[in-house]
Amino acid sequence: MGLIHRAVNDLGKPYSQDGLAANPPPGENVENRFTVAAPCQIVLAAHIIRTAMGATILAVANQKGGVGKTTTAVNLAAALADRGRRVLLIDVDPQANATSGLGVDRGAVRASSYDVVVLGRPLVDARIPTAVPGLDIVPSDVALAGSEIELVGMARREHRLRYALEAAGDSGDEYIFIDCPPSLGLLTVNAVVAAEALLVPIQCEFYALEGLGLLMHTLALLRRELNPSLEIAGIVMTLFDGRLALAHQVVDEVRTRFGDQLLTPLIPRNVRLSEAPSHGLPITRYDPNSRGAIAYRELAATLDQRLRRDAVRASDIPPA
Ligand SMILES: Nc1ncnc2c1ncn2[C@@H]1O[C@H](COP(=O)(O)OP(=O)(O)OP(=O)(O)O)[C@@H](O)[C@H]1O
Ligand SMILES: [Mg+2]
Repeated sequence: MGLIHRAVNDLGKPYSQDGLAANPPPGENVENRFTVAAPCQIVLAAHIIRTAMGATILAVANQKGGVGKTTTAVNLAAALADRGRRVLLIDVDPQANATSGLGVDRGAVRASSYDVVVLGRPLVDARIPTAVPGLDIVPSDVALAGSEIELVGMARREHRLRYALEAAGDSGDEYIFIDCPPSLGLLTVNAVVAAEALLVPIQCEFYALEGLGLLMHTLALLRRELNPSLEIAGIVMTLFDGRLALAHQVVDEVRTRFGDQLLTPLIPRNVRLSEAPSHGLPITRYDPNSRGAIAYRELAATLDQRLRRDAVRASDIPPA
């Protein structure tokens, strides 16, 4: 059996990490199993709050680092704003890559996702416009780096971002993207609890399939134990290099396994995409004709059509 086939076959099998059995004994509290300070601490629950707040809330998540989470969050958000959508991007990664990638001057940040998630400040205090009309950001801050420890002792620690979003009410956003750090810690948990669905970027390489196995197992477990409505809005294949046979094999396997959850188009490896953040611009502004820009624009169209085709905003309905 080839390596790729083995990794893909493993996706469906019980996964054990730190002795965590896929099938917990009856009555065992899964929440506690996941919230101890362990490498895989996670409590996920999705809440469909689109109807209450008008926005489609997507957590861009994958515990694997460097797979294109931030690149996807920033460029999809910008491309959707260019399509006339109102978009908010919340950066809950202490690395603050989405924040710098959108050209936010950190010196000018009055409040950040740290203030919102840890200190309980209203979301509106931290929300600032970007250079892209229609796209706002709640920036991250280095203070967020200690938040995993600060959050551990707090009540309802997994729900703090969700509460902040609910308290903010309908701000007119159609999409809210949450850019997650490369871990399954409490910040990612907060993002996923606040979201109705996940957007999962996967790099077109072999190890990605192994990482996906862990992610899928975790989702299946938590969906089963905590919230059956957790959805995957889509899988985004990133850093695709069509010259490599391995890249095609990985895509084929993911497509076989996940069908139309794999969003099109694939995102090509494109140097302009890696240059854009240093200019503080999304690719659609930095180099609108690049392959990366074209791909993210098309991906935005795919996602928009899938997720909001039938969406009717409460504010669009005239009063009776
Ligand atoms: N399609 C692409 N083509 C070329 N470079 C890319 C592409 N996508 C991402 N990159 C580059 O790869 C690196 C990792 O991407 P990115 O920061 O988006 O990943 P990430 O998953 O958010 O990482 P982390 O887990 O650290 O948050 C960055 O330098 C980014 O510019
Ligand atoms: Mg990132």
